[in-house]
Amino acid sequence: MDAVGIVVTAIWAMVPAYIPNNVAVVAGGGRPIDGGRTVAGRRVLGDGKTWRGAFTGFVAGVVVALGFDRIEAALDTVVGVDVPGFPVAVVIGLPAGAMLGDILASGVKRRVGEARGARVPVLDQLDFVVGALCLTWVTAPMWAGMVFTAWVVVAVLVVTPLLHVGTNAVAYAVGLKDVPW
Ligand code: CTP
Ligand code: MG
Repeated sequence: MDAVGIVVTAIWAMVPAYIPNNVAVVAGGGRPIDGGRTVAGRRVLGDGKTWRGAFTGFVAGVVVALGFDRIEAALDTVVGVDVPGFPVAVVIGLPAGAMLGDILASGVKRRVGEARGARVPVLDQLDFVVGALCLTWVTAPMWAGMVFTAWVVVAVLVVTPLLHVGTNAVAYAVGLKDVPW
């Protein structure tokens, strides 16, 4: 696969993992997943991780993955890159992994004493990607092995922080986020 094919495949395969975080920002809020519980005086996850955010984010990712599956063949023809379709284990694995990675990262941030919304470069940009890659490797190992080649993973790790920083800046500018990261 050439460089264009690698980058297109990386973005294509990761959009169902990007969507959940952004939808959680817009649709999240309400009851925190940790129910307000603390460990050693610090919140387990914090008020930034809510059931509504996780659920709506997950559902949005599933819907987008299913939508992508329907336009896959057309994209192959139009863009000339043979992007992969999404079997159901991937439709679920990518968004669920993204939300889990984001939640786990908040747990890590709280344990090391970072307040909700505190900026932790790299972790903030890659938590959901690593979560999505790892869970998909569990739910659909054959698919993951075929699609997430070493070069595609490299492209994902390079392109994601750029897209994430960009979308968060926009979300902050229009008042959806309190901080621009
Ligand atoms: N959000 C949510 N539920 C989730 C994830 C996100 O409700 N499972 C919403 C919250 O309103 C959160 C916002 O999306 O404040 C931004 O998400 P994120 O940047 O991941 O959370 P932070 O507030 O920065 O908190 P943390 O320091 O834990 O990352
Ligand atoms: Mg954050």
